[in-house]
Amino acid sequence: LAKVDVGTEFVSGLLAPHSTVLVTAVDAKGKPNIITLGWTMPTSRDPPLVAISVGTRRYSHDLIEGSKEFVINVPPEELVEKAHFCGTRSGRMVDKFAGAGLMSLSSKRVKPPRIKECVAHLECKLVQKLRTGDHTIFVGEVVAASADEEVFDGKKGFINLKTFKPLLHLGGCFYLVAGKMKSI
Ligand SMILES: Cc1cc2nc3c(=O)[nH]c(=O)nc-3n(C[C@H](O)[C@H](O)[C@H](O)COP(=O)(O)O)c2cc1C
Repeated sequence: LAKVDVGTEFVSGLLAPHSTVLVTAVDAKGKPNIITLGWTMPTSRDPPLVAISVGTRRYSHDLIEGSKEFVINVPPEELVEKAHFCGTRSGRMVDKFAGAGLMSLSSKRVKPPRIKECVAHLECKLVQKLRTGDHTIFVGEVVAASADEEVFDGKKGFINLKTFKPLLHLGGCFYLVAGKMKSI
């Protein structure tokens, strides 16, 4: 099979699909916003650290720099339209909790709320940031984590695909639902 050269602007597409998450952050008055992200990764077990990459011009970028806290919420596939809504509007213009019709749930250790309709939540305190081109990588220490009882398999240490289908992003308006497990 022949290889074709691909434009370097397609890096994200070649690494797709990306787990889709909804990240909450608050302004100085405590008003919450939601940003949809595909560029995330765990970076350390001890201490538990996770990194998110946020465009420098996003409203959420200012909120996370200001409050130094954020919550990563994991949406089920049913939230695809709401996730896309939160990923195509700015919190500078719209209240995304109201606009998307999502419910907030107080977090345990940080000010940004959890999103009730999501199935897993990582409450993070900002510990490091790194400017990478037109994005900033924010590294958060996970100070609390919670999940829907039926979705998290405590014995295996990961999600139960019978009760939760992760929402993956291919690019643009295209999503994928993951559901087939291969065990070896
Ligand atoms: C599926 C999906 C994934 C996205 N991933 C990212 C990402 O990883 N980083 C980022 O900065 N923006 C990402 N975006 C774009 C932001 O969500 C979008 O610019 C959003 O409107 C910013 O909201 P804010 O201005 O309220 O912060 C993504 C959008 C979608 C729909």
